[in-house]
This record gives sequence, structure tokens and C-alpha cells, in this order.
Amino acid sequence: MAQWGFSCRHDYEGELRAELARLSADWPIPLRSEIAMPGVVLAQVPGDQDSPDQLRLRLAALDPVYALQVLPQLTQVSAPSVAGLADACMDAVRPLWQDLAAEGAGGRFAVHVLVPGQIKGQPRPQMQHRAELLNQALKQRIMRAELHRPAKTDPVGRLLQVLLVDAEVALVSASPVVRPAGAMSWPSLLPAGLANPPDDDAAPSSAFRKLREALACMAEQPQPGQQAVDLGASPGGWSHVLRQCGAEVHAVDRAELDRRLARDPQVHWHEGDAFRWLPPEPVQWMVSDIIAYPQRVPELLAAWCDQPWAQRVVVQMKFKGGPDFELIDQAVAVARQAGWWIRAKHFFNDKHEVTLMGGYIDREVVASLSASDNPQGRQ
Ligand SMILES: C[S@@+](CC[C@H](N)C(=O)[O-])C[C@H]1O[C@@H](n2cnc3c(N)ncnc32)[C@H](O)[C@@H]1O
Repeated sequence: MAQWGFSCRHDYEGELRAELARLSADWPIPLRSEIAMPGVVLAQVPGDQDSPDQLRLRLAALDPVYALQVLPQLTQVSAPSVAGLADACMDAVRPLWQDLAAEGAGGRFAVHVLVPGQIKGQPRPQMQHRAELLNQALKQRIMRAELHRPAKTDPVGRLLQVLLVDAEVALVSASPVVRPAGAMSWPSLLPAGLANPPDDDAAPSSAFRKLREALACMAEQPQPGQQAVDLGASPGGWSHVLRQCGAEVHAVDRAELDRRLARDPQVHWHEGDAFRWLPPEPVQWMVSDIIAYPQRVPELLAAWCDQPWAQRVVVQMKFKGGPDFELIDQAVAVARQAGWWIRAKHFFNDKHEVTLMGGYIDREVVASLSASDNPQGRQ
């Protein structure tokens, strides 16, 4: 057994633990977990000497909605100095790190040194300075040991994560990075999975943070001139973000938009039922923050994904109380059946809601790729 760490929005550790138990319900030994500190759950996961490929499979199987970050196969190290901690961290992860580097295709590496207050969203957490020093010390050691230099454009394929428990004790994890859906990474390439959207006084509502987190997680955003539909848009925090990206926005709501947005010639307000509204032409992005009615989300996704009416979707599923994991699975299945990649996450700024993010897989492109793989043509 190996110890894995999962971080989540503090106060949602119970949901994360319930989900881990649910994900492993049919494993020979369902996962046991405990809360290590606010926002950090530790779980006992099979396999303590996994090869990179075994780890990739486990990462793909362990992508809980309520986990913002995963730190696989943790080892505890201790040393009184930053240099001593860096050496101990490298010693602990060296075999796996070398296996990953030897793959060549491992791509670039990233190092995240985390501190407990950061996971709680504190802007100036304790031990931050020590974490920065440790981060530099680790990068120096890795650079010295690297056998080849990947190109700057190569994707990040290896992540070293360290959680400083106190000044002299740390939990360290080395991991390959998998891409569970679209351009999204797991573990997240955002430290602790946090996008930390900056304050924005011009936003009509604080809800803008949730869309900012989703776009950061997707590693994609609308491009200037693209068309975006915002369902349940008022007062307009999400429309504001779409405009900041440069998209032309169709905002659908029964209620009016904030006056500043309403004056923008690139924002078109459509009064009506957001569950029934479809654009005259397919658009690049559809986002939805319609309040309540979580049971209608699979129906909404079916309407948009089957055609498809958009290339990318970001849809909030808002619960009255705790999460309904079966309903989340149902919504994910609807999009997958229509040939989409899709993933659900509970972000730091989400409360009784989760965010589904998806993308259309162009069937003609996929078919042409598999036909060119197979010179005999498709069978
Ligand atoms: C949470 S608010 C959206 C906040 C918005 N995303 C923002 O950033 O400011 C939910 C919105 O959904 C709208 N809504 C709920 N049911 C709707 C429906 N069936 N048709 C249109 N709008 C609906 C409400 O009027 C409300 O403005």
C-alpha cells in the first residue's frame, strides 16, 4: 500500500472521502482515508513501487470530482535545513523520477512546494518563504541530474510535489502527468489545483471566479471573435469573463444583465428559458450557471452535445444539499455517449455545486486519423 494525498476545498473533506470510498467500492480493498489537515485527505492506495505506466493507470482511475490536486505515493522526509530537505526529497523520489526521465517522452518537469495555509486559500501563508527556497533548491538539483533538456514547447510530463508539514518535515511525491480530458492535467499543473483568480472590481458578481477556475483547469479559453452562449447569465459575472477573453456573448436569462454589460455592443441579452434556448448557428463555447434544477443538466448536455451546438461547454450542477454522485455520472455519461470528453470538478469557489467541463471530439478528424493509421482503410 502507498499513501496518496488529495487536496480539496477545506470543509469538503467529507465529500472527498465519501467519493474515494465510492470510486473504490468494487476494489478488493476499498480505500481507507483520513483528514490530515484542513483541505488534505490521505488515502491508502494499492501499489507502492508502481512503474510510470502503472501510476498513469491509477491516476486515471483516481480523479475524484472533489479533489483539486493529487499527490501520489507520498514519502515523509525530515531535515533541519532547506538544503537537507531538498536532498531528502530527491533521495525519496529518485528511482521513479529517473524512470520518468528515462522515458524521454516525459517532457518538461514542474516543481510545486505547498504549505498548509495555501491549500486553505490564504494569500500570505506561513512558511511561504521557506517553500520558495525549497522549490529553488529542488529545481537546481533536478537540473543538475537531467540527462537531456526537453524543448520549451514540450508538455509538462513530470511533477514533483512537496507539502511542507512544518519547517523540518515534508511529504514528497513524484508523478507522471496524465491528460484525463482535453488539455486538462492530472495532477493539476496549478499548485494545489488552485487558480486563485485575482479580484475584479468590474465584474458584476463574484461568480466570475468559478468560470475563471474552470478555464484555468481546462487550460483553454474563448478566443477573440469567437461566439459564446451564457445560460442563466444575470447579473453577468460569467459574461464579463467571456468578454474579457474577447468573445461575442449571447446572454440568456429571465432577468436583466448588469447595466455596464447591457451597454456593450458585443453582449446580446436574450430573455427566455435558458433550458430551451438554442443559437441560430453552432457556437464555440456554451457556459451555464443556471440556478438549481441539477436533474435537468443531463438533458441540457444532451441538447447541446448531440448536435453539437458548441465545441466547448462549462456547466454548473447546483445541488440543494450534498452532491448527487449518480447524477454527476449520468451527466458525464450523456456527454461521453455523444462523443465528448468531459470532466467534473468541485473548485475552490464552488459551494453546493460542481462544474462539468467538456469538449467536442470531431468524429471526422478521429475517423481520418484512424484511417491513416490503417492503410487498408477502416474495417
Ligand atoms: C447563479 S445566477 C447566475 C450568475 C451569473 N453566472 C453571474 O456570473 O453573474 C443563476 C441565474 O439563472 C437564472 N435562471 C434560473 N432558471 C432559469 C431559466 N429556466 N431560464 C433562464 N434563466 C434562469 C436566474 O435568473 C439567475 O440569474
